[in-house]
Amino acid sequence: MSFHIRDRYLYCEGINVKDLQNAVQNSPFYLYSAAQLRANVAAYAEALAGLPARISYAVKANGNLTLLRILRNLGCGATLVSGNELRLALLAGFDPADMMFNGNGKRRDEVALAVQHGVTVNIDSEFDLEHIAAASHAAAARGAARPVDVLLRVNPDIRPDVHPYVATGMRDSKFGIRAEQLPWFLDRLKGEPLLRLVGLHCHLGSTIKDVQVFHDATILMGDLTSSIRQQGFELRYLNLGGGLGIDYERTGEMPTPQALLDALRGQLPDDLTLIVEPGRSIVGNAGVLICCVTGVKRNGDKHFIVTDGSMAALIRPALYSAYHQIGFVEPVNGEPRVFDIVGPVCESADFLGKARMLPTPHEDTGLVVYDAGAYGYAMSSSYNLQLRPAEYLVDGDRVMQIRRAETFEDVALAQSPLSVIMPQ
Ligand code: LLP
Repeated sequence: MSFHIRDRYLYCEGINVKDLQNAVQNSPFYLYSAAQLRANVAAYAEALAGLPARISYAVKANGNLTLLRILRNLGCGATLVSGNELRLALLAGFDPADMMFNGNGKRRDEVALAVQHGVTVNIDSEFDLEHIAAASHAAAARGAARPVDVLLRVNPDIRPDVHPYVATGMRDSKFGIRAEQLPWFLDRLKGEPLLRLVGLHCHLGSTIKDVQVFHDATILMGDLTSSIRQQGFELRYLNLGGGLGIDYERTGEMPTPQALLDALRGQLPDDLTLIVEPGRSIVGNAGVLICCVTGVKRNGDKHFIVTDGSMAALIRPALYSAYHQIGFVEPVNGEPRVFDIVGPVCESADFLGKARMLPTPHEDTGLVVYDAGAYGYAMSSSYNLQLRPAEYLVDGDRVMQIRRAETFEDVALAQSPLSVIMPQ
């Protein structure tokens, strides 16, 4: 069991979180469970067993180096969206052959880095194709012999039922290539021997609860693959992106990787290797944000629990009105009330949860925000100079610090010494 309550205390595997909080005195912090991470990868591995398939973990969800190393050791590849993520994946020991470089705004230097390392690149637009072609020519001129493997990212025009900010495969979204534009790309690729089209990619969006959209996408992508093959391209991969939701609301009804695969089965052309790019469903429920109560406050008939955790540490509630389950890490016996749980940041959007029925805590009570492993630390900021939190990993009865907290000096020193740029 990863995160669980025993005798009214929160445990992460064998560790009493209150004891950890007392030991580190470093609030707020992120806390991860290695066992949960392994279980989440195993769920994908079991669902994919027997299929030619790969798990390409979306590093953007959580780029902690230690977690990346664990995922690499569990057999995952890495989906990347920047040159720096590529560098991080190299540091974590991923084989470039197991990396995919994705994104709608890859810069030329980032494309060059990917080409230099032999990473497969997704083409998102005409300019992207030209930049990748130019990088492949530059590499060839330097004596690199191999062509660059590319996938075309298709905009499938499918609308999942998710927050509009995390839907990416709709007609009017900035990502991918519309089916009617594909002929231009295919013609262009025919004249570009240094680019080898090896497959198609699509990504529908994130927090998806209804796997029917994956079924629809597979049919569409399978049809496109067949028609592109008829033009002489030897497509080997179908990358269906990530997007499977997790059970933030604890309904018990969230589809599993197995349900996802069941929705695809039968629709997948069997001579294609399937690539999935899960982020949230690998790390989301493997991490929590641990905070301390700074105080309890009442404004008229509204009650607030003010914590040292804020939108700077976890922006999902502020940005998407996202729901995260919230509780305490220790027994709390105060009067139950309906609270908004807020941070110290000077924005009314600075909340972690709204209208939660909780017992009234004391100052310094430990509070937990669940399911914060994906897009938690990764989207944190030092707004209001709330320094980015430390990260800890539990494995059995061991705890390791896997990232130190940002310090005041980190922030202040980046602004010094002043240097005059112009006039020279
Ligand atoms: N592949 C591609 C091309 C993506 O754009 C993404 C996520 C993934 C894979 C991984 O998706 P996942 O399995 O994690 O849903 N910040 C938002 C989520 C943005 C997701 C962006 N793309 C949030 O906190 O909900």
